[in-house]
Amino acid sequence: MISLLVGATLLLGAAAAGGWMSTFVDLAYIPAAGLFILSLSWMSDPKTARNGVFAGVAAMGLAILATWARPDVTQHWWIILPILLAVGPGVWLSMVPLTAVPQRTALSHAFGGLAAGLVGTAKYFHWYLYEPEMLTPFRMSAIILEIILGYLTLTGSLIAAGKLQEVKWIPQRPWIYKGQNTVNIAAFGLALVCGVILIFAPNMAVISPILFILIIVLALNFGWMLVMPIGGADMPTVISILNSYAGLSAVAMGLVLDNNLLITAGALDGSSGLILSIIMCRAMNRSFTNVLFGAFGQVQAQAAVGEKKTAKSATHDDAAQLLEYAQSVIIVPGYGMAVAHAQHAVAELATLLRNRGISVRFAIHPVAGRMPGHMNVLLTEANVPYDLLYDLDINPEFEHCDVGLVIGANDVVNPAARHDKTSPIYGMPIFDVDKCKTVLVCKRSMNTGFAGIENELFFLENTLMLFGDAKQFITEINSRLKGGGSGH
Ligand code: TAP
Repeated sequence: MISLLVGATLLLGAAAAGGWMSTFVDLAYIPAAGLFILSLSWMSDPKTARNGVFAGVAAMGLAILATWARPDVTQHWWIILPILLAVGPGVWLSMVPLTAVPQRTALSHAFGGLAAGLVGTAKYFHWYLYEPEMLTPFRMSAIILEIILGYLTLTGSLIAAGKLQEVKWIPQRPWIYKGQNTVNIAAFGLALVCGVILIFAPNMAVISPILFILIIVLALNFGWMLVMPIGGADMPTVISILNSYAGLSAVAMGLVLDNNLLITAGALDGSSGLILSIIMCRAMNRSFTNVLFGAFGQVQAQAAVGEKKTAKSATHDDAAQLLEYAQSVIIVPGYGMAVAHAQHAVAELATLLRNRGISVRFAIHPVAGRMPGHMNVLLTEANVPYDLLYDLDINPEFEHCDVGLVIGANDVVNPAARHDKTSPIYGMPIFDVDKCKTVLVCKRSMNTGFAGIENELFFLENTLMLFGDAKQFITEINSRLKGGGSGH
């Protein structure tokens, strides 16, 4: 495929004797931009998400081909070589398990940030050495923005990926010290001051390149310092904030390279990352500043201590019986389903119940799991029909439901969010699963979830705990249901 693309591009390049090729390139950018927009729009719905991915690939392929066909691109080996080098890591990254997708995404952003930073650096030094008149204040502003955002995205994303991958030498808990925010802001401010000097004096002998390198060092430093104080579980929100930084640095890169498609694609990337971060923050009822500077995991771990209460537990048999005598079941999956890889067992359970004429629906919270759409992706992979998936709109249905089956979810079903003003999750929209006639909660222990707080749902009269690994427990229930229950 790549050799076909390369061949086609070389042919086009060879045919480019006149200026018509530049026009062709500009024209090709229009459908590419359109495909990028369609890609984002389709990816917002599980039914069209696959088409969205294909549209994105087609848009990027077209963008690469068109740019490669530009008459001023003559050193083809400088394009072929990186593509050849990138294929191996690219294929490897595409094959990571679904639970590792957040850290894989962070690595992609790191590469994007590095690319933007390197292009900005190369452009600056090329113009500084050979065409100093090109370093206008406008171009310098774009380059400074590009390298600051690019390099901070690089180190910030690497730390985010490391935290999510639970790399041993990167602390998972927020890493904080007194005056940290002041130090961070001072480092960022210093980089900005150097940038402003460079915008107006980009060609000073020795001093300008030194200031330029200082900005790079400060940006690299700022990136990791920004992410270290944030708890591992808050990383998805941070990753989507870094996504918007990477998009903005691509916009700046487009301005530096005078490339309209890069500006468009970067703006789409930047704004979608920002919108996603806002959606996640709203669904967690938190502000940006709280995510970035709140050291969330640490604060809530301290809030976890509370009075001792008792919870009732049930066996596989009890659970199977309650389920098979129900008329309606709403399943609320959470992070634990992902950890246990229980999606296929859960999908089988839904089929077994539906085959008995029981109404089964899934309630998917916007922040269930650890990345946007986490539960949707897993359940889709297990072939759960889309029309069984509901979001927060399903809430009024819980009070009419016989069994609410919570599988590895915790914070998203904690009633404290509705009434306990002292709770760190107060105000977060939750599923009212406690209103079901019976609530079954499948998890391994009484441990807390991401927010680190006790869940009063577990101690309610109508709640039964199903202690165990979600995959094993649900598989056991399935085998009992398959073994022949009385049904209706
Ligand atoms: P959590 O509140 O994190 O609870 C997950 C539960 O799964 C834990 O209490 C754990 O209990 C259980 N569990 C873990 N492994 C299990 C296994 N193998 N089998 C069965 N249970 C298992 O999950 P949630 O309800 O999905 O809420 C998500 C949280 O993450 C929210 O607080 C949200 O704000 C936050 N968050 C989400 C996102 C996105 S974008 N989704 C981003 C950042 C933060 P045991 O240890 O007792 O088993």
